[in-house]
Parts: sequence; structure tokens; C-alpha cells
Amino acid sequence: MDWSERVDEDTEADLIGWRRYMHERPELSFEEFETTKYVAAMLEEWGIPYDRPMPTGLVAHVHGKHPGPIVAYRCDLDALPIEEQNTFEFRSRTAGKMHACGHDGHTAILLGLARTLNDLRDEIHGEVRLLFQPAEEVTESGARHLIEAGALEGVDAVIGLHLISSIETGLISLTKGPIMAAADTFEITVRGKGGHGGYPHEAIDPLMIAAGLVGQLQTLVSRRVSPMDPAVVSVGSFHAGSAPNIIPGTATLTGTVRTLSEKVRAKIAADLTAMAESYALAHGGIAEVKYGWGSPACANDGPLVDFLLPAAAGAVGSSSVVSLPPEMGGEDFAYYAKVAPTAFALVGSGNKDLESDFPHHHPRFTVDERALGIGLRFMLESVERTSSGQAELPVR
Ligand code: NI
Repeated sequence: MDWSERVDEDTEADLIGWRRYMHERPELSFEEFETTKYVAAMLEEWGIPYDRPMPTGLVAHVHGKHPGPIVAYRCDLDALPIEEQNTFEFRSRTAGKMHACGHDGHTAILLGLARTLNDLRDEIHGEVRLLFQPAEEVTESGARHLIEAGALEGVDAVIGLHLISSIETGLISLTKGPIMAAADTFEITVRGKGGHGGYPHEAIDPLMIAAGLVGQLQTLVSRRVSPMDPAVVSVGSFHAGSAPNIIPGTATLTGTVRTLSEKVRAKIAADLTAMAESYALAHGGIAEVKYGWGSPACANDGPLVDFLLPAAAGAVGSSSVVSLPPEMGGEDFAYYAKVAPTAFALVGSGNKDLESDFPHHHPRFTVDERALGIGLRFMLESVERTSSGQAELPVR
């Protein structure tokens, strides 16, 4: 029997119930205390051992009866600082916080996986390690913390998924190579010399320098990076000045850089810094650049993807397994690739009729809950591939 056939109507109803419970109770990154308690209570009820390497989040262990690899399956627990605009009954009960990326669904799916695998322990080879990871949404990255805490020790592969509203429910995208961008930030403080707005020649105007830089920074992509290499530089904030007739002393820009390769990433970081410094200098000012290295580009391991494609086909049928081009959003799952081969699937949850096709991080974001059962089927089929002893996991 295919393991995914264990997902019946009752299981799907449980997944929906758990997801709605968590949707009502969103918690921000590193503050997922109640969500952690909720998950822990269920694991205890099912008798699944877990540890707590961080204040929030937890790592559960399903030990199989037979020797075999250690394969980690990951979900993320955190919500976002967004005021929910959905009106359904289980909308967020907390002002200003919302599960607007579907992580409530991911956590429900991993709970379903835990419970089902616990019943299959006699057939499992090795260990299935379940990462209930906190803090995916912030640069500080819960994934990085989990790795530093040793939670990934001995792991042979890491597998994860994201519900995604841009493709229809019933489709799964599983692609080799880069799938999400490195997401870096920068802050540029331009210092000049403040003065009277009527006497600009006696001042050094940092606002004018910063305004010029906003345009200049676009040439990093258009004139320094090959058109064949995807890259984005966006300035997201500009702060300077306090009155119409005063030239301020400083101006501050912040922005984000998205790239898919380490080579392009390093080039833009270096060129952005040099450009800001020399452009400010050319106009008599000084620029201080703080470059914030975020999560690296998230790339799927080719052999592991090949190995898991039958699992995706088992969950939705081979004609519904697609290959989406890379997204310029970030995903801290990328850090796990430094530890072991990784594969990250995108599970369609978009449905026009249900209005579940709003973009992620939108105040009206929601998921088509049929995608929860599909996500669980994919993960169960994957565990059957990686940990049932029927096939040999590709190792690095
Ligand atoms: Ni997300």
C-alpha cells in the first residue's frame, strides 16, 4: 500500500482544524511559544520524542525499527506583522499579526506527517527527523540557529515544502537548481554638511547625493551584471530632512538585493559599496554602507530531486508535477543545503473561486485547504522513498 493512501477524509479534516487553530493564533519570529506548546502537546499525546534546541520550535524524532539514513522534514512556524483583512471565522485574533505566508498550513502538514509516521515505525528505516523550525521570516533565520544548535547532526537529506498561491491547487513544482533568491539588505547613510536651504553652496547636500544614488544603483543590474543572470536591486526607504528651508546633515537609504548565484551576489555587494562610497565622495560627501547578508539562494540538489519526482507524481499524478522558474523571494531553507542535499517543493494552493490566489504576505492571503492533504501526501510519498528501505537515498 502506498503510504499516502493513509491520508483519508478524517486526516484531512484534522489538518484543516490544526491549520485554522494556528491561523487564529499567529506569532511572530522567535516568539512562537504558544505554537510550540501546541505542537509539543500533540507530540506528547502520540508518544513521539522531541527536543527543544531553541526557546521556540522543536525537533521531533521518529525512530524506525530498521537501520537506515536520517532524513529531516521541515516546516516553519512563524507569522508576519500584517493586519489581516480576511473576514472568515478563523481569521487572526491578534491585531497586527497574521499567518500571511501559509506557515500555519506547513505546520499542520508536518503534524500530520508525525502522527502517520508514528504508526509506520515498524516499516521505517533509519530516523525521520521533523524540524518544527521557528523564525523563517527574518534575516536572523531560525534555520541557521537550528543548525548551530546541532539539530541537523548526522542528517543525510533535508526535505521541505511551501504552499504557493501562484499555482493552482493540485499542482506541485519540484525543480532542480535555484528556486528562490538570496535575500540581502543594505543601508546607506550619506553624510554631508547641513545648512540653510537658501545657501546651498555653503552646505554639502546629502539629500541630493542620496537621490542621485537611487538612480545610480539601478545601473548595478543594468550595466554590471550579465543580462543572463537574474538580479534585483530595490531601494525601499529614503529618509532625510525636516523642513523646506533646511539642508539636512544626513540622508539614509535602505533596500534589498536579490540574486540567484553566489558570484553575482558577491559582485553586487562589492560594487554597491564602492559605487555608494565613490559617488558620495565625488559630490563632497561620505557614504557609509552596511551590507546585510541574508539567507543564500535556495537551490535544490539535482539527484535528490530526481529521486523524489516519483513521490510528487504519487501525490498529484505525473502530469501535475511542474517546474516553476526561480522566484526572487527569499527562503531560509537555503541554509540546510550547507549541511546536506536538500529538496524544496512548491505545493499549489491557488484557487480563484476561493480567492486563495492573493500573493504571499498580502493581508487577504489564504490557502485552499485541499492543498494541506496534497502536501501531506507528497511528504508521505517522499518518506516512503527516502526511509522505507525500498530505494537507496542518493548521497553527496
Ligand atoms: Ni513563507
